[in-house]
Amino acid sequence: MSKYEINVVNLQIEMTPKETDIFYMRRCFQLASCGMGRTAPNPLVGCVIVKDGKVLSEGFHQQYGGFHAERNAILKSKLDIQNSDLYVNLEPCSHYGKTPPCADLIVEKGIRRVVCCNDDPNPLVAGNGFAKLEAAGIEVEHHLLEDEGRELNRRFFTFMEKRRPYIILKWAESADGYMAPAERRDYWISSAFQTRMSHRLRTTEAAILVGSQTFIDDHPQLTPRLVAGRQPLRVVLDRRGRLHDVSADWLHLGCQSLDDVMGVLFDRKIQSLIVEGGRQVLDAFIAEGLYDEVVVFRGNTNYGCGLKAPAVPLIAPNRLHIIY
Ligand SMILES: NC(=O)c1ccc[n+]([C@@H]2O[C@H](COP(=O)([O-])OP(=O)(O)OC[C@H]3O[C@@H](n4cnc5c(N)ncnc54)[C@H](OP(=O)(O)O)[C@@H]3O)[C@@H](O)[C@H]2O)c1
Repeated sequence: MSKYEINVVNLQIEMTPKETDIFYMRRCFQLASCGMGRTAPNPLVGCVIVKDGKVLSEGFHQQYGGFHAERNAILKSKLDIQNSDLYVNLEPCSHYGKTPPCADLIVEKGIRRVVCCNDDPNPLVAGNGFAKLEAAGIEVEHHLLEDEGRELNRRFFTFMEKRRPYIILKWAESADGYMAPAERRDYWISSAFQTRMSHRLRTTEAAILVGSQTFIDDHPQLTPRLVAGRQPLRVVLDRRGRLHDVSADWLHLGCQSLDDVMGVLFDRKIQSLIVEGGRQVLDAFIAEGLYDEVVVFRGNTNYGCGLKAPAVPLIAPNRLHIIY
């Protein structure tokens, strides 16, 4: 049994070694999620360094181009981390990217044991990080809470494995299921709360896409102006070249197929994408099975007629969010 002390409330919890590992890995997940919206195309990674039942240091990957979680935790520590256990939710890197390899630093600091959640699918790492650690005599535990780690980094794994962004279909619909009224007029389906939520969603994803008709009808800004956070890349699909007033900071695509659109976004390292409508574009993504999550904001007024919202496609319950 080991003891974890939370000094502030002087609470001591007795845990088995397995429970201890799970506890610190979940802490890695919490830390990792602090980087949400800022690390892409890198994954979300957190790290905890523990010795004799005490946390010596913690860190997370804070933004793309910045230090990785392990390096942040190691460099932050004022205490002696030799012979400690290091918890991290992704295999430590073994290559020179924007920063030097974390596996080398872990070896250099004399860490005793590394507990890890997910293997890194990046071909530049893919097992080489673990190999470096094991070659240096470090004990390595693999695949702890693997499914939870994949869930946390679902954008990253989808991007690496399917070679396309993680796709969130999102629309607002009236109480009776219309996404626009029949007659052309200004309309607003979402409540103030739903609109803020929608803006918050924009800050966590890399890009947001609309069809040319929505661009013509609505002139949408697609900014997260009601909340603090990053502006996603704005993308408009315009196969026939009807649009002549697309601002230069938008990605104006004339691709004839969604396959080609996916290729362009993959090459630009766009890890996640919100497809914000309209109906034709949503239908096209649904028809090709290009979606991973669905978010529907349902308003409280009836339109009676208009542009019908898509039927919610087949999706796992935890990937469908209907927000009233
Ligand atoms: N309630 C909501 O959440 C919401 C959100 C967005 C829009 N809207 C409403 O939806 C209405 C527009 O919807 P819409 O269905 O008429 O048009 P849309 O989906 O916005 O745009 C359709 C156009 O996109 C272009 N496009 C490019 N690639 C495509 C592809 N692979 N598949 C399908 N289309 C592709 C096509 O024009 P080209 O062939 O010229 O490229 C097509 O005519 C607007 O009135 C807007 O107000 C509502």
